[in-house]
Amino acid sequence: MTNSSSRRKFIEGISKTAGAMTLEPFAGAWPRTGNAIEFPNAAAPGIEQLKDLAERKGLLYGTATEHGKLSGDPAFAALVAQQCDLLVPEGELKWNTLRPTPDTFNFAPSDELYAFTQQHRMKYRGHTLVWHEALPKWFAGYATQSNAESLLTTHISKVVGHYAGKMQSWDVINEALLPEDRRSDGLRNSPWLALLGPGYIETALRAAAQADPSAMLVWNETWIEEDTSLVESKRQSFLQHLGGLKKRNVPIHGIGIQSHLMGDQNNIGGANFQRFLHEISEMNLKILITEMDIRDFKLPADSRERDRIVSEKYAQYLSSVLQHKSVIAVLTWGLSDRYTWIAKTNPRSDGAAVRPLPFDENLSPKPAFYAIAKAFEETQRR
Ligand code: G3I
Repeated sequence: MTNSSSRRKFIEGISKTAGAMTLEPFAGAWPRTGNAIEFPNAAAPGIEQLKDLAERKGLLYGTATEHGKLSGDPAFAALVAQQCDLLVPEGELKWNTLRPTPDTFNFAPSDELYAFTQQHRMKYRGHTLVWHEALPKWFAGYATQSNAESLLTTHISKVVGHYAGKMQSWDVINEALLPEDRRSDGLRNSPWLALLGPGYIETALRAAAQADPSAMLVWNETWIEEDTSLVESKRQSFLQHLGGLKKRNVPIHGIGIQSHLMGDQNNIGGANFQRFLHEISEMNLKILITEMDIRDFKLPADSRERDRIVSEKYAQYLSSVLQHKSVIAVLTWGLSDRYTWIAKTNPRSDGAAVRPLPFDENLSPKPAFYAIAKAFEETQRR
């Protein structure tokens, strides 16, 4: 289907669901009433695909999911295949799934997700090789300062080697920074730090590069999007560590910005964050928006109002990050409200279902979908 016919179909789809709303031509002009952008809030048959809108600008769009959600829910699997170019396992490549015992590896769940990506010509990214969470029950009693380095490097060599040449990128390091732990280097007091000292980061990156020299190696961080003094100190620690790794020629190719945002947050994507993104780009590091979603548990009960606020937050944040051409991928942490970790971790006190993602629980596009689509449509080509 040609671009113009798919756009026409898209507009027809929106106008059908949006009723009498008159639509200007799709290219960047969106239906407005006054200053507010009105987004239709229902399934728009023939909607655009986020992966196509992203690809036209040299971006990848994808999502996190679990193999059981794809195999057990064909309609959801079809939506993932329709909308996404990149898949990241929500749990299948974490230690507690991969490592039933100190001597065994269970690749089957992740291999099932990988097979799905290959069936739908999608890319696969690995998450995550070194994290303080999702460690198997045997870990605490087994890992010691004397065996930890071999435990870590064997894990990385085996896991990265299993997918050598097949991964779009790897979250090698995940959430290693925590200013609240008050270390001068800003590192989190994680089990890995206790076992191996700060050098675990370099050790992990070097082991990953050795196992797959072609892989894009990423350090993924959370809570670095706001402009507060604590978050700024976290960003400064991050820059320090990255500068040191680059200086020592440690293989690292990009950072992940998880982007788990709050619908009531007003200071995301500000000047200090922009400066940080610029400094990352200056280091020739790529930037991946790795886990974007917007928690609405502090937003009003009315779902249309919540959807509107969430969509505007997506629009605000993406317009801020996509200005930087080193941003090469955007992933949402889930595609539909039918499956979101937020339902468990940040439920609403009024018991209403949370609505953080581009598609609702019935797999219909929400204003958030149109906000993401518009951000891809409006960004510069990489
Ligand atoms: O699969 C078992 C199930 O058999 C068992 O009955 C149930 C009992 O609670 O647990 C299930 O495992 C859960 C797993 O998700 C699969 O649903 C774990 O308890 C639960 O801890 C795990 O939570 C995941 C969390 O990471 C920890 O691994 C979330 O789904 C996942 O969204 C979350 O993702 C993290 C990223 O990896 C890193 N950035 C933050 C992000 C959100 O916390």
